[in-house]
Amino acid sequence: MSDAVTCKNLGKTFPGGVEAVSSVSLDVAHGEIYGFLGPNGAGKTTLISMLTTLLRPTRGSAEVEGIDVVRYPERVRRRIGLVFQRSTSDDALTGRENLEVLAGLHGLSPREARPRIREVLERLDLGEAADRRVSTYSGGMRRRLEIGAGIVHEPSLLFLDEPTLGLDPQGRAGFWEYVRDLRSRRGMTIFLTTHYLDEADQLSDRVSIIDHGRVLRTGSPVALKESLGRDVVLVRPSDPARDLRSLLAGLPGVSSVDPRAGDGEYRVKVARSESFVPAVVRACDAAGVELAGVATRKPSLDEVFLTVTGREYREESEANAPVPAGTTGTRGR
Ligand SMILES: Nc1ncnc2c1ncn2[C@@H]1O[C@H](COP(=O)(O)OP(=O)(O)OP(=O)(O)O)[C@@H](O)[C@H]1O
Ligand SMILES: [Mg+2]
Repeated sequence: MSDAVTCKNLGKTFPGGVEAVSSVSLDVAHGEIYGFLGPNGAGKTTLISMLTTLLRPTRGSAEVEGIDVVRYPERVRRRIGLVFQRSTSDDALTGRENLEVLAGLHGLSPREARPRIREVLERLDLGEAADRRVSTYSGGMRRRLEIGAGIVHEPSLLFLDEPTLGLDPQGRAGFWEYVRDLRSRRGMTIFLTTHYLDEADQLSDRVSIIDHGRVLRTGSPVALKESLGRDVVLVRPSDPARDLRSLLAGLPGVSSVDPRAGDGEYRVKVARSESFVPAVVRACDAAGVELAGVATRKPSLDEVFLTVTGREYREESEANAPVPAGTTGTRGR
């Protein structure tokens, strides 16, 4: 059986010369949750638009469920669900009515559609609001209704473009649980884009990290993090004035020591934190250095991104991110 999604050297250059997606080759297996992770402007929406037949590629080819997206767009559309970054619901209708209209468009009879819509609304925590107009919904409720609209016809393959943008932590956690459930109970394949590193990490079986239209790394989040081959250990002496640079740099398995600005803490990159921690405790004891704390941090996808691009993920993505309405220009962190 063919893969759920295959693309070969797929690319899009917009008129005017912007190369939004340069040349992407990837395979998504049936039943896989695949995360396409990258900062703002990386090319995520452009890629998902080509895979869902909304945009014509300028290079390469793509198949969805074995069907060529350029030659048979109608057939592809029948197989897939799509939740787009921008809202598509009709404000003047209720949540339930929106889903009824969509189910009708997908050819479901009212008798088939009714129980399914009820279940979708319940699962997305919209049961109580189902018969209210969408114009009265909060941002998070609208997002959840969008997700319902993408799955009401029970597609075998669901594309989600930044599905949790604008959801609060509780809404995001609930959504992740729902996606995992769709995969395990329905065997649905899920292809999602996100610029949240933690979301890609928690949810995806595999991720592709993209930047400037190129795939930089593909693999399971665990494999990508392990490929860095190092952990980070934060060492804090009780006396912040105590210089530990040469003591730390002399310990086995240390690849770098970074005295963090001002607070007396050292950020040490080591091969394995499990063997480094007892070693640092012993060495400090022997040198008469009292420690206030030692904390280990396994690498995050953040560090994978930093390693492959040479720059911090957060800076880049947050610098370009729109500031939500009602907040001032300063951001925490
Ligand atoms: N219709 C268009 N015409 C010209 N350039 C475009 C068009 N759509 C997107 N681009 C450009 O292509 C690049 C990739 O855009 P895309 O929307 O795919 O990024 P993204 O990863 O989805 O970003 P975000 O996280 O902000 O949604 C950007 O430089 C963008 O300005
Ligand atoms: Mg986008």
